[in-house]
Amino acid sequence: MNILYIGGGFVGACSAAVSADSGHQTLIFDVDQEKIKKLESADRDIIESCLHEKGLGDLLIRNRDRLTFTTSVADLATFCEDVHVVFMCLPTPEKDGAEGESDLSYYEKSVETIGPILTRRNNGNQTNRLVIVNKSTVPIRMIDYTAELFARQGVQNFGIVSNPEFLVEGKAIADSIHPDRVVVGANNEADFVVMREVYRRFYDSSTVKYIEVNPYEAACAKLLANFLLFNKIVTAYDVVGRTAEYFDNVNYENVRKILVADPRIGAWGLYDSLFAGGSCFIKDAASLAHQLETAGTHAYLVRGILEANVFQRDHFLSRAETEAKFEWAGKTVTVLGLAFKQDTNDLRNSGAIGIIQQLLGSGVATIKTYDPAAQDEAKKYFAPEKNPLYQKIEYANSVAEALTNSQAAIICTDWSQFKTLVDVITATVKPPYLIMDGRRIIHQAYSILQAAGYDIIAVGSPFLPGNINTLRKLK
Ligand SMILES: NC(=O)c1ccc[n+]([C@@H]2O[C@H](COP(=O)([O-])OP(=O)(O)OC[C@H]3O[C@@H](n4cnc5c(N)ncnc54)[C@H](O)[C@@H]3O)[C@@H](O)[C@H]2O)c1
Repeated sequence: MNILYIGGGFVGACSAAVSADSGHQTLIFDVDQEKIKKLESADRDIIESCLHEKGLGDLLIRNRDRLTFTTSVADLATFCEDVHVVFMCLPTPEKDGAEGESDLSYYEKSVETIGPILTRRNNGNQTNRLVIVNKSTVPIRMIDYTAELFARQGVQNFGIVSNPEFLVEGKAIADSIHPDRVVVGANNEADFVVMREVYRRFYDSSTVKYIEVNPYEAACAKLLANFLLFNKIVTAYDVVGRTAEYFDNVNYENVRKILVADPRIGAWGLYDSLFAGGSCFIKDAASLAHQLETAGTHAYLVRGILEANVFQRDHFLSRAETEAKFEWAGKTVTVLGLAFKQDTNDLRNSGAIGIIQQLLGSGVATIKTYDPAAQDEAKKYFAPEKNPLYQKIEYANSVAEALTNSQAAIICTDWSQFKTLVDVITATVKPPYLIMDGRRIIHQAYSILQAAGYDIIAVGSPFLPGNINTLRKLK
């Protein structure tokens, strides 16, 4: 089949790579020239510096005979002369200040480009039936709006399918090649048949749940799945973590061991953290809340989870002043980890972004950051042209460089390599020094660090002040 992907981001690039790997002729069209240049470079390091997904480079390179990339409308038109399926993999962020309503302008703009081209297929006769697929996470009724957008441009003879993506960033390629489920929502058998052909390798697989439903159920299940996962993560710190923080001698990891022994509770997501970030959970929960309220019911729990998430990050940072009596103004602060989680260079809604903004607002002198993958993205996000305060942000080449001459360190991302931070910390900075662990990633060393005089504020623990007596003895 000839398959077009509109948008070559995390979802578009990974899905297109798997389509090409499944034998389809595939084109990715994106408006971002730099991204397309990197994706078509056939150089694994360049590809993964753009989308930090293990295996993406190899998959794109291995399938380059069937996979092309373009920003050119002329290339798009040539491919569309005989296109069978169009996947819409566009951003669907939250509209600014709109209580969760989705910003569909990326969809609208892209249909203005692709619509007129599709009307010219088969010499303008539009004889070949086309399937247009909502791959983005979209409002429940989006299928109707997508159909309306294409029809407005004069596109005829097409079906609309909802095929939400469930990949997890950081393991997007593994998830795309071995999904646990493929969900296809269509209104008629003809469209189901086309999608079975697109996904032949999964439809025939005994390990993949291939689920066919109507388009509203597919779109709705994606939003609900994300909400349930988001809810679990937030509950892990707003309820479990808070309890461990406010009651002495209640250790988070010990309590967790007991909780996850119950298979009904399960281990996934039950880790304490300063924030649940990323491109999806927050905006999808906000969209769900907005849709429920617009439909005439309430969204108390969904709104509550969103608020608890923001409270967690603000509360964590505020503990430096309220508990450790640490004043941020004029200090040099190290921020370890910028990505919203390990194994990605995605900064969207990362805990570190909010922390850095608040530190700048509190008058810190310098912020020294280190992240193994997300520094290039951070440099774009915090470009000094946008705000002169961003000049205070420095990017180090190692954890040790980021720690040197700072008075406090905040661990924001759960990169595996941060598990061995303790040796670097003790070799680089001496007490009095404040360590803020937003991931409990060095929890096994809290008592050692405390005994050596370091003050520790960790999510899911009461304040752990450095032991002055031990320090005196050491002196
Ligand atoms: N990232 C994830 O983990 C994930 C998982 C499941 C679902 N989703 C959903 O999938 C959708 C896409 O997410 P993503 O993470 O891939 O986003 P992304 O920002 O990484 O990629 C979107 C791409 O669309 C391109 N684009 C914007 N306007 C365009 C236009 N007019 N024409 C062509 N290309 C255009 C952008 O340049 C960008 O490369 C969103 O709805 C998201 O919620 C994301």
